[in-house]
Amino acid sequence: SGAVEFHGAHQAGITTPAQDRLHFVAFDVITDDRAALVRMLQQWTQAARRMTRGQDAGPVGAVAGGDYAPPDDTGEAMGLPPAGLTLTIGFGPTLFTAADGTDRFGIADRRPDALVPLPAFPGDELVPAISDGDLCIQACADDPQVAVHAVRNLARIGQGLVGVRWSQLGFGRTSSTTSDQATPRNLFGFKDGTDNLKAEQTATLDRFVWVDDPGSWMHGGSYLVSRRIRMLVEVWDRQGLRDQEQTIGRTKGTGAPLGQQAEFDPVDLSALPATSHVSLAHPTNAGTAILRRGYSFVDGSDGLGRLDAGLFFLCYQADPATGFVQVQRNLRTDKLNEYVQHTSSALFACPPGLAGEDDWWGSGLF
Ligand code: HEM
Repeated sequence: SGAVEFHGAHQAGITTPAQDRLHFVAFDVITDDRAALVRMLQQWTQAARRMTRGQDAGPVGAVAGGDYAPPDDTGEAMGLPPAGLTLTIGFGPTLFTAADGTDRFGIADRRPDALVPLPAFPGDELVPAISDGDLCIQACADDPQVAVHAVRNLARIGQGLVGVRWSQLGFGRTSSTTSDQATPRNLFGFKDGTDNLKAEQTATLDRFVWVDDPGSWMHGGSYLVSRRIRMLVEVWDRQGLRDQEQTIGRTKGTGAPLGQQAEFDPVDLSALPATSHVSLAHPTNAGTAILRRGYSFVDGSDGLGRLDAGLFFLCYQADPATGFVQVQRNLRTDKLNEYVQHTSSALFACPPGLAGEDDWWGSGLF
């Protein structure tokens, strides 16, 4: 499949039609050298620009260099098409102010007010080692090898300056981000993404997804929340169909809201249990909207005879406080909570898109 344009007013990978696969990575910056970090971000941008076009990460390529130097591309994507690769960068709160309070890169006063660590939520079982991070890259593609190749090459370019803090593979998108995409199903077997915000709803996106703050380096950007949500599929699979549908608030077959006929019929809240997921997450009750862009995962098994499976939930919003935080707070009585556990959490500020060939990730910030 084809190449997605890397430049634009907004970063690709947000309203881009959700690709099939994900490799998400969070990095710790391990240098205090601002100039070295800036140089790396410039090198990352060049490599990302090339890889999203289906080219090698570096100008020489995997096999055309000399015999005695490591190649400037690792090679595993040779011969593969761009596969719709998008690379989306985000900056975590700790990039601005380290955990010990130091302002390593002289950007503490550039931290947007909205970029503060998320509050704790009831039921959270977060594992610090797979949460947070100074930088993130969301790599999405229709071929997992293309996404993994991209993340690996950025990690290679950053050696000595950044270390991989945690990373997550995802298969099977769990949302649609354009109206012409068929709605996929999540690991509970339900259509997921029906009532998501869609790329065509530009006025709604302007209101809920894109930062509107002219003059700020985040103008045209968006905040990304990631949550690794374990889904207790073995418990779920023992529930009757009717109970499953009452938990979600939609039918399992067509995905229609309860009491309605077809998938895209309007939600009639009076026909849904008040504690169903859709009822509590619906804009009428949550008072807001978010753009969801998550993926399913199965990370093997947990040693207790169960799959370590779930949803790597990703959502974009203009302000986390009135986006994810507001919806998640409203979900505290969600019937779905019995079947899910949040094990990782992170928040990143994703700057606006790049203006052209000479622009680079972080040009507005540094
Ligand atoms: C809707 C599943 C977690 C926010 C839905 C739907 C399903 C679903 C099946 C209905 C189809 C649709 O409209 O997309 C799940 C599962 C989750 C999960 C299995 C956990 C593993 C979350 C979280 C949030 C969230 C953590 C946000 C804090 C929403 C929203 C809607 C929705 C906003 C649309 C509601 C509407 O407008 O009607 N989810 N979800 N979900 N979910 Fe989730």
